[in-house]
Amino acid sequence: MTVDHNESAASLAEKIAALKKEKHAVILAHYYTLAEVQQIADFTGDSLALSQRAAETDARIILFAGVHFMAETAKILSPDKKVLLPEPEAGCSLADSCPAEDFGRFLKDYPGHTVVSYVNTSVGVKALTDICCTSGNAVEVIESLPRDEKIVFAPDRNLGNYIKSLTGRQDMVVWDGACGVHEEFSVEKILELKKLHPEAKVLAHPECRRPVLLVADHIGSTAALLKFASEDPAREFIVVTEAGILHRMRQENPGKTFIPAPPAGSSCGCNNCAYMKMVTLEKIYRALRDEKPEVLIDEEVRRRAEGSIRRMLAVRRG
Ligand code: 13P
Ligand code: SF4
Repeated sequence: MTVDHNESAASLAEKIAALKKEKHAVILAHYYTLAEVQQIADFTGDSLALSQRAAETDARIILFAGVHFMAETAKILSPDKKVLLPEPEAGCSLADSCPAEDFGRFLKDYPGHTVVSYVNTSVGVKALTDICCTSGNAVEVIESLPRDEKIVFAPDRNLGNYIKSLTGRQDMVVWDGACGVHEEFSVEKILELKKLHPEAKVLAHPECRRPVLLVADHIGSTAALLKFASEDPAREFIVVTEAGILHRMRQENPGKTFIPAPPAGSSCGCNNCAYMKMVTLEKIYRALRDEKPEVLIDEEVRRRAEGSIRRMLAVRRG
């Protein structure tokens, strides 16, 4: 089978479904990917649910429609499976803000600290980590540690400081990293939207800066924001996270209005993660057909990183 560049999404989706069956593959997609990618996935979720699925699946191939750290997490958990990342350049500005070598040097200043890292990190950082977390379970992970434990939290300063304020942990050192997409949201733009839509509730991801979180009605992971949008009686919501989530929000709530918050100075009216949007149906089709690009990890580093994710998975989501 070949790919015609003008091939319709429907025809590619059919070819992908046939290959998936033939090759005993599963497609896991993040909520920030393109709508047509989410449509063909076997499972769409937040980072936590995706890592849980990756740990449980009995498929021979895991195709990750998402960014590099997500596919790498799947490979860490399932080293005997083939893990495919349709676009190897799909990185993450947050993971890039914490290079493993720099982090290793930083940790030397904090002996005796427990290292908690957000999953948006490289395998090298995970190998230096005691326990991982996602935005979906960060509070539970921190609270699973003794109250007097000294903690280093990496790499997201916004999530780290938010969790610090929620848990009241004083002995928590936070690495100075951030996501380029979420840092861009401006509280002024949200307040302008609020004037136009006074009844709208503001939903924000904890990777946003503190002034943005202060005006939010609900703060949570992508899955938590979706849950709130479905359960809350409000009819209008201002959504302060990556715009890909709007697809699922609108699909699940046909009678409600979802307004994407623009980043400061934006003319497009929404905020996209360029990395997530690199994953297309065509690339998924090619990756399944050719069984590459494959995510490969040095076994020694993988083993050192695995414990941090397994420990996270053992902590229940709140
Ligand atoms: P979630 O864990 O909330 O899905 O977020 C992942 C992410 O990359 C946020 O930018
Ligand atoms: Fe990384 Fe930010 Fe994109 Fe999430 S939205 S994958 S944190 S760059």
